[in-house]
Amino acid sequence: MAFPPQFLEELRARLALSAVVGKRMRLIRAGREYKAPCPFHHEKTPSFYVNDQKGFFHCFGCGAHGDIIGFVMRHDNLAFPEAVEALAGEAGLQVPRPTEEDRRKYERRKTLHDLMEESCRWFEQQLRGPAGRAGMDYLLRRGLDGEAMARFRLGFAPADSGAMRRHLLGLGYSDDDMLTAALLRQPEDGRSPYAFFRNRVMFPVTDRRGQVVAFGGRILEGDGPKYVNSSDTPLFHKGSLLYGMSRARQAASDGQPVLVAEGYMDVIALVRAGYEGAVAPLGTALTETQVQELWKLIPGEVKEPVLCFDGDNAGRRAAWRAVERILPHLAPGHSARVAFLPEGEDPDSLIRTHGPKAIQPLLQQAIHLIDALWQMETENRRADTPEAKAAVKAALEDRVGQIAHRDVQAYYRSEIRRRLDAAFAPPPRFRSGDSRVGANGGGWGANRVPRRHTPGLAGARTSAPQGHRRTPPRRLTLENTRERLLLAAVINHPDLFDTVGEHLGMVVFPAGPLEDLRQTLIATLSSLPEGDSRLDADALHSHLSSAGFDTILASLLSRTTYDHGRFAQPDASPQEALQGWWPTWRHVHHRQVRAELREAQEILARENSEEALARVVALQQEVIRTGMGIADDSDLDDGAL
Ligand code: UTP
Ligand code: MN
Repeated sequence: MAFPPQFLEELRARLALSAVVGKRMRLIRAGREYKAPCPFHHEKTPSFYVNDQKGFFHCFGCGAHGDIIGFVMRHDNLAFPEAVEALAGEAGLQVPRPTEEDRRKYERRKTLHDLMEESCRWFEQQLRGPAGRAGMDYLLRRGLDGEAMARFRLGFAPADSGAMRRHLLGLGYSDDDMLTAALLRQPEDGRSPYAFFRNRVMFPVTDRRGQVVAFGGRILEGDGPKYVNSSDTPLFHKGSLLYGMSRARQAASDGQPVLVAEGYMDVIALVRAGYEGAVAPLGTALTETQVQELWKLIPGEVKEPVLCFDGDNAGRRAAWRAVERILPHLAPGHSARVAFLPEGEDPDSLIRTHGPKAIQPLLQQAIHLIDALWQMETENRRADTPEAKAAVKAALEDRVGQIAHRDVQAYYRSEIRRRLDAAFAPPPRFRSGDSRVGANGGGWGANRVPRRHTPGLAGARTSAPQGHRRTPPRRLTLENTRERLLLAAVINHPDLFDTVGEHLGMVVFPAGPLEDLRQTLIATLSSLPEGDSRLDADALHSHLSSAGFDTILASLLSRTTYDHGRFAQPDASPQEALQGWWPTWRHVHHRQVRAELREAQEILARENSEEALARVVALQQEVIRTGMGIADDSDLDDGAL
């Protein structure tokens, strides 16, 4: 119910904030202000300040901030009108009587709220009674126990389409109210209204204050939509509410991450796994309003809800849609991160199979919005011609242009430009000890996943093979064409090694003569000083020949190889050699990461450990990233690398 503004002014004027706060907790004087350990998050040293002059409290730890009414609402867990009434009591003020119309509106809201509460209770009872048997079995099968059902107030809507109506009519509610609350449907033919939810497991949806305002109902099996949700009512607007929101607000103010999943069951699983900041939209894609609500949930300067999506193609498309939606509204500190789950999993199934510990690595791997934007516009796109590069650039700039906030847009613009430059230019020389440069190089850049140890120069040096282990050269196959090109180019242009050496060290070839040659080549070139005194191609060639590689060199440095990439020929310019080398390396590297992923997935299937899962998630990200800008493997057939 609205209060006249003058009354609220009066209330604020009469009561000192410090007095109201001081009644509820101990305050310590600090100059003209008061301080205390913050009541809204856990801390030992006080960062919660109360300023009577300004009439505001502020916590420098969690960002909690507000005036006298806000404090009482939050501290005493009251709705706005209740807080106002409580304060009026403390100030000795009479709350102004609302107009008749105010009262009618309020009463109506109140009865609708009561009605929803009663229906929720009834559904809960049904679940536990004989009519709810099938629903109970279903929920138990899905791993929920009685405690969880009670906590989330799950219920069951029986098949009897008149049962709930009879019960609620008996309590004095009218058909009219039940129709307004979207609990009943009015048939066209004038027969009596019937229940909207029938034979479904019921998930009550609560508003910001935790009051039931709507339901989602899940079918047990058989035909029909999997979930139906209440239509909008005076209490419920599906596009502005999130499932789990009131719990998430509390959790966020305690410093827990806010996670956005897709479904009811996901939120329940996440909360049970200890992630109480979990929410989900209600059967629609995330709306702009919901994004704003998410930001409001999170105190402090940096607001980054984590949006969780399935790692498959549909999930990625959904993620990009969410990014598109958020982009225009980005503001300082207001952003989001995107987490991809292993393919085919949602948080519920992931937690079911791998336990609560499965979530932490996901959150750690969540990518920033800028990375999501970059992935969205670069994955599966070629950038091998000037026109293709320009198209990628235009698409990215178009997206960035949608960011309304000037500063945020400007920073995005410069970051995107930096990444484009880095992606289209050969990567910088690898600095030892900087693993990120190595993982970035030659790809589309922007790597956040910490790579595990990759075999580098040091390993290659010590494990250089002995000459007598030569095996006969294999036939040239598509699988090793790229490997051959990488080696041939470096042997014909030893100076390339200064730039590409570390990357050549990262890609391990299948065991065989090419791998032996790779290792010897690296060992030879990295044992020499850089620059002028570098071996020339002839000297390198004869060194390798005398080390036992004469047969393989003859086969390697031939038309059979060069036909697949002229950049590797001796008469290619150093420029051409380098330009051809990087895309070829990217392919080989990508294939290696994919193989590592397959291996990690097998390990995960076997041992189901936290590390194994973390590795799968990280490698999935890396497969996406290293695959960006790489055309399909089939392009090798026509010799275009
Ligand atoms: P999903 O189809 O991903 O289902 O829908 P789920 O959450 O994994 O459900 P379970 O695990 O099979 O029970 C995600 C969300 O989309 C909405 C619901 O809110 C659901 O939780 N949805 C889905 C609908 O509103 N209607 C539908 O028919 C399906
Ligand atoms: Mn599910």
